[in-house]
Amino acid sequence: MRHQSIGVAVVGCGRIGTLRALMAARHPAVSFLALSDRDPAKAEKLAARAGAQCWSADNLEAISRPEVGAVVVSTIELEHVEPVLQALEQGKKVLVEKPLALTLAEADRLCAAALQHAGRGASLHVGFSRRFKKRYMIAKEQLRHGRLGSLTGAVVRLFNTRSQAMQTLSRLPENSPTSGLTYYIDLMGWFFADNPVVEVVARGKRGVLRDSGHNTTDLAHAILTCADGAVIAMSVSYALPKGFPVLGHAARVELLGPDGVMLLDDDHADRMLYSEHGVGHVYIPGHEVNMAFLGSGTPGDWAMDEFWGPVATETRAWLDHLTAGTPALHAAPAEARQTLAVTLAMEESLKSGLPVRVAR
Ligand SMILES: NC(=O)c1ccc[n+]([C@@H]2O[C@H](COP(=O)([O-])OP(=O)(O)OC[C@H]3O[C@@H](n4cnc5c(N)ncnc54)[C@H](O)[C@@H]3O)[C@@H](O)[C@H]2O)c1
Repeated sequence: MRHQSIGVAVVGCGRIGTLRALMAARHPAVSFLALSDRDPAKAEKLAARAGAQCWSADNLEAISRPEVGAVVVSTIELEHVEPVLQALEQGKKVLVEKPLALTLAEADRLCAAALQHAGRGASLHVGFSRRFKKRYMIAKEQLRHGRLGSLTGAVVRLFNTRSQAMQTLSRLPENSPTSGLTYYIDLMGWFFADNPVVEVVARGKRGVLRDSGHNTTDLAHAILTCADGAVIAMSVSYALPKGFPVLGHAARVELLGPDGVMLLDDDHADRMLYSEHGVGHVYIPGHEVNMAFLGSGTPGDWAMDEFWGPVATETRAWLDHLTAGTPALHAAPAEARQTLAVTLAMEESLKSGLPVRVAR
């Protein structure tokens, strides 16, 4: 067994950065924690909570600390590129939140940097945390054993509330519901290994999100065609009423092959709570519902003063990979680049109404 200790920097101390930092602080192999955020008050507050050794408003200062070998980039989507490049250039291991970047040019730059600095120890993984939700991990295992044969198609349906859409739109005004699908586009890439999506056609409808001043559709339906002709139907709506019981993703994923079928119910309707006192949301401050599907928080859930769920497992698995040599099941740069290319093709098709080839 190979165990080594490592110092971690978390760049971006918002909601997900907070979870990453707390998970890192609890990991037995993490010997040093540095934090940075462009808002120094956030970095300082989280440093006190997580017991970090240092914090800064300057990302480079935290990344460059000699004790730091690994960097988690949890900044908002528009701000991933610079800290990832800074860390890779210093030969550090990087986990960046999805999406890798917002344009293919930026994604290509990051993929190239990961390759260029690999010899100095740098590595890059992307946090598509659905992979670390147990039901999808187990599904991947079954596919690995060929239980369905070579996949012929899939159906993915994702629902979320307009309250969650507003959170993302507040930091990314041009965001569309396809950004929620990006996790499932990654999942499909993982499940349909070596059979990439080559074409997308999508349709959407504007409604309550447009009426609240956002240039986006409420829902989108898309057909994705893979290189061998397999077809994936994807539907998403991020405009369900704000009191709908889901506190994150409510999804269904169905996989079809010549030898079998897998039906993955991820709606969480099997665990329902009603309370006159209101139930808080793991991601949206101040958002309360009376009825909740328990376990539907997308990153995971707090229980008994610990955080449990996909982001917790994903963070731990990455730190285990770095310090104990376990395999990294996180998305590699080329996979994240392909996921971005499919997401952008879906966006383009939503606008034009035409089929769009996925950029190579
Ligand atoms: N895996 C998941 O379940 C999951 C869920 C939600 C969001 N995300 C992803 O996590 C990332 C962060 O989302 P969030 O919800 O935590 O956002 P957030 O707004 O809560 O936090 C982002 C933080 O980054 C800081 N920041 C912004 N630009 C910065 C910069 N250049 N340098 C340093 N700090 C900077 C902000 O001040 C803020 O504290 C996004 O990429 C998002 O897509 C992942």
